[in-house]
Amino acid sequence: MTWLITGGAGYIGAHVARAMTDAGERVLVLDDLSAGVPARLPADVPLVRGSARDADLLKRVCAEHGVTGVVHLAARKQVAQSVAQPTRYYQENVGGLATLLEAAAEAGVERFLFSSSAAVYGNPDVALITEDTPCAPVNPYGETKLAGEWLVRAAGRAHGISTVCLRYFNVAGAAAPELADTGVFNIVPMVFDRLTRDEAPRIFGDDYPTPDGTCVRDYIHVADLAEAHLAAARRLTENATAGDLTVNIGRGEGVSVRELITVIGEVSGDRRPALVEARRPGDAPRAVASAARAAEELGWTARRGVREMVESAWRGWLRHHGG
Ligand SMILES: NC(=O)c1ccc[n+]([C@@H]2O[C@H](COP(=O)([O-])OP(=O)(O)OC[C@H]3O[C@@H](n4cnc5c(N)ncnc54)[C@H](O)[C@@H]3O)[C@@H](O)[C@H]2O)c1
Repeated sequence: MTWLITGGAGYIGAHVARAMTDAGERVLVLDDLSAGVPARLPADVPLVRGSARDADLLKRVCAEHGVTGVVHLAARKQVAQSVAQPTRYYQENVGGLATLLEAAAEAGVERFLFSSSAAVYGNPDVALITEDTPCAPVNPYGETKLAGEWLVRAAGRAHGISTVCLRYFNVAGAAAPELADTGVFNIVPMVFDRLTRDEAPRIFGDDYPTPDGTCVRDYIHVADLAEAHLAAARRLTENATAGDLTVNIGRGEGVSVRELITVIGEVSGDRRPALVEARRPGDAPRAVASAARAAEELGWTARRGVREMVESAWRGWLRHHGG
């Protein structure tokens, strides 16, 4: 097998590239470096700089490297930006995916793994979100992930490609400081950013119907997430006629925003109290995965806890932002 990892120089992609290489898989990365960092990649992983929306480039890369499987991570991922620029998000995340799937089918690729998101669910009022919980995304980003899943499954059926869609919950941490997330779009780096600016962390709403009144989420260490990709890739390899599979990737455990900020205070040594501000529109009180299907179908469960996520993310933050 030769795996093409699109977006492999990104935060999650670089972890996936490393985990798959360490496990002996042959991989190459296609990344336009719009957000990627080549130095994150192991030296022996070939990097093709270009767009996963460029059909000619995709055909050439698949033929030259004998690509037999694709792990597709390249996408735009900022919720607020997707609200402001929905056509761009549909063009890049859905249109780009259609181009990639066409090229993959033409090249005879038989396995396809797609980065989806818990954003496909929207805000369901359930204790644990299973893969059968109805999908009702509440922003264009989540819509493009759901449409992407539909497209992946339809193309898989039409062209005989086995597919897996992984719905990631809240990703945090780093397997090594140099692989850390350099963006400030998720809660852990957002709190680090506040502390670095000598400002108190912010909590948006503490009157939710949750044990401490703050929103509850399911955090997953990026190294565990990378191992889930490896497990999914192995399952696709062993079972090429498996059809399609859609799996939550989470820990199955809820952590409140206040609990997370407490851990960040302990790890960073900056325990200043958080400021409580008004609720943000669209935040669900609780979003926690059922992790049962991942265990059953992929033989994978998360091994790392929230403290390990925060400690590793903090080491990465200090490396990139001084301190
Ligand atoms: N980070 C999260 O919490 C999270 C949660 C759920 C799902 N996801 C999904 O995981 C995937 C990776 O996210 P990430 O956090 O690593 O983001 P990231 O921005 O760090 O990585 C995306 C990578 O894709 C590259 N890229 C973007 N468009 C491209 C294109 N057209 N052609 C080639 N390369 C392109 C970027 O340069 C970057 O290296 C995305 O699909 C995202 O939607 C992320």
